[in-house]
Amino acid sequence: MNARTQVGIVGAGPAGLVLGRLLELQGIDSVVLEDRDRDYVENRVRAGVLEQGTVDLLLEMGVGQRLEREGLVHHGVELRFGRRGHRIPFDELTGGRGITIYGQQEVVKDLIAARLESDLPLLFEVDDVRVEGIEGDSPALRFRHDGAEQELQCDFIAGCDGFHGVCRDAVPDGVLSLREHDYPFGWLGILARVEPSSDELIYCHSDRGFALHSMRSPELTRLYLQCEPDEDLDGWPDERIWEELRARFASDGWELKEGPIVEKGVTPLRSFVAEPMQHGRLFLAGDAVHIVPATGAKGLNLAVADVRVLAEGLRRWYSEGDDSGLRAYTERCLRRVWHAQHFAWWMTQMLHRMPDDRDGFFAKLQLAQLEYACSSRAAATALAQSYVGWDGTRELS
Ligand code: FAD
Ligand code: PHB
Repeated sequence: MNARTQVGIVGAGPAGLVLGRLLELQGIDSVVLEDRDRDYVENRVRAGVLEQGTVDLLLEMGVGQRLEREGLVHHGVELRFGRRGHRIPFDELTGGRGITIYGQQEVVKDLIAARLESDLPLLFEVDDVRVEGIEGDSPALRFRHDGAEQELQCDFIAGCDGFHGVCRDAVPDGVLSLREHDYPFGWLGILARVEPSSDELIYCHSDRGFALHSMRSPELTRLYLQCEPDEDLDGWPDERIWEELRARFASDGWELKEGPIVEKGVTPLRSFVAEPMQHGRLFLAGDAVHIVPATGAKGLNLAVADVRVLAEGLRRWYSEGDDSGLRAYTERCLRRVWHAQHFAWWMTQMLHRMPDDRDGFFAKLQLAQLEYACSSRAAATALAQSYVGWDGTRELS
């Protein structure tokens, strides 16, 4: 490995790997450092919904062949409440736009394969990454790899290391403003080897709590249940999970298909934004700098949108010596981030059972919002526009 590169990238999640690919296509060198092993990164089950803009970028970058073959294109979603389903037709409301269902770990596999195919540096199982000198002109990453201490000199560092990474903490105290909100619930998610019970996603409000029906392929169903933020999985044998899912999704003439559960996990729901997203020569992207509750299906899409802006700023800097794109990075990203943050919060508060709703006041407000979203074209259009992806740059379109 060269001990010097142009852009040092910490983290081989969607943000780090997409950035590495965009830089490769622009002829800019990078090194990607990842603390987990390849198998772990490629098999971590997380997001599944790709906005059209994310799909288009993956195709443009030449890593979309399998996505085109295996991705499931959806033109709407169902909102289910009061035991009845209501479809929001994205294509009709947004001029033909939609979403694609393709697992995040499949995106990650495709990007890793492309990087290795190009013979570019991607180091797994690095330890103790330290970020240094970001306020000067030659920042560096120090880390341990294969038992040896290493130093990598960089022009810029991209902190793409997720919420629990180290890069955000490298920004000196007092620079970042942190805004956050923890929700009083989480999601218990499962992956089951069974054909999906519906062709589209179902976001379900019920008096037992929220449930979501999603999928990964014609043979794999992804399901989520609202639970405590720190729910103990030991209390959830498979039969209890199916029983609860059946009760929440209950609707006349609809049946939940069941099969072997191949993965189970609990995720707390959180909103978080750190601003600015850059300091000196360090640029933060994706979950390292913002988290959205999963109800809006925006996290991965925001991570990809950030690095697209960053790659364009770096292109201008290297090819034209123009730093305007880099200086505008935070501002260009945050408009989209706060829009997505609001949308994800709005979906979350509309669909989840509120723990302290003693007389059912909030439940009634939720039903009023859901009914409006499903009966007013204007309200349904607003939901559809945000769901398929809004970049914040268009005035009234
Ligand atoms: P990450 O994917 O977290 O990648 C960061 C990488 O950095 C990891 O590989 C990590 O191992 C590595 N790393 C961490 N620390 C270090 C270190 N010190 N040194 C080196 N490497 C380090 N988003 C959507 O858009 N749609 C959805 O449908 C959706 N559903 C979700 C469902 C669940 C259950 C969860 C948990 C999330 C979901 N998300 C969804 C969110 C989405 O998964 C994240 O927003 C996305 O992973 C962010 O990508 P990232 O590259 O910024 O961070
Ligand atoms: C998923 O398929 O994992 C998924 C879908 C929609 C969401 C969140 C997660 O809002």
